[in-house]
Amino acid sequence: MSRPVVLAITGASGSIYGIRLLHVLMKQGRETHLVISPAAGQVLERELGVTLVSGKPDVDTLLSSGGSIFPELTGELPPQSKVFVHDYRDYSAGIASGSFRTAGMAICPCSMGTLSSIAQGISGNLIHRAADVHLKERRKLIIVPRETPLGSIQLANMKTLSDAGAVILPAMPGFYHLPQSIADLVDFVVARICDQLEIDVTLASRWGEDDQFQRR
Ligand SMILES: Cc1cc2nc3c(=O)[nH]c(=O)nc-3n(C[C@H](O)[C@H](O)[C@H](O)COP(=O)(O)O)c2cc1C
Repeated sequence: MSRPVVLAITGASGSIYGIRLLHVLMKQGRETHLVISPAAGQVLERELGVTLVSGKPDVDTLLSSGGSIFPELTGELPPQSKVFVHDYRDYSAGIASGSFRTAGMAICPCSMGTLSSIAQGISGNLIHRAADVHLKERRKLIIVPRETPLGSIQLANMKTLSDAGAVILPAMPGFYHLPQSIADLVDFVVARICDQLEIDVTLASRWGEDDQFQRR
């Protein structure tokens, strides 16, 4: 059986990337351990109109918040979809320990605050701690930053994390697949994250699969 995936959503713009990734993991029936930072709650409210009542949000509410961009987010999911939502302060969660085996962790989107905390090894919340664990156990850690322009400190933190084994996968959609919607742009990035997690999904056309991308 495939190992679980850890997904953290932090307070960078682009919360729809995290929500769509959650949906894809659930559709794949992949056990997912979800942590949401308090700042992510503010961004979710602003961008998708969802109000989270506590540090442990309701998964159905999260999915339906992305329904205006991806109508399928409100559709049926396989019964084996399992999401464990952890409070960002709960250091007793399994994902805080190296003995809890996973297929990897994605931080999507990743704020500069979370990125710098991980780069400096500050396990100030469960997200930082789980990321630290993935690095020390030499497991896949995919960091999806969303910030522009980037300052020297932010670039240095990214270099530190890349040298430590993390994959820096900026939320930078391509345009060569001729996107028609926000959903197409989001899926471009989510597909790259799934590639890193070795999850087989077809969300966006791959360069080289068609002779050439056609204008629709
Ligand atoms: C609406 C909104 C959008 C934000 N966008 C970004 C962003 O794109 N990138 C970023 O690094 N921080 C952004 N921030 C600031 C972070 O949320 C803030 O630095 C916070 O401390 C990050 O905490 P966290 O890493 O624990 O989620 C945004 C905040 C708000 C309220």
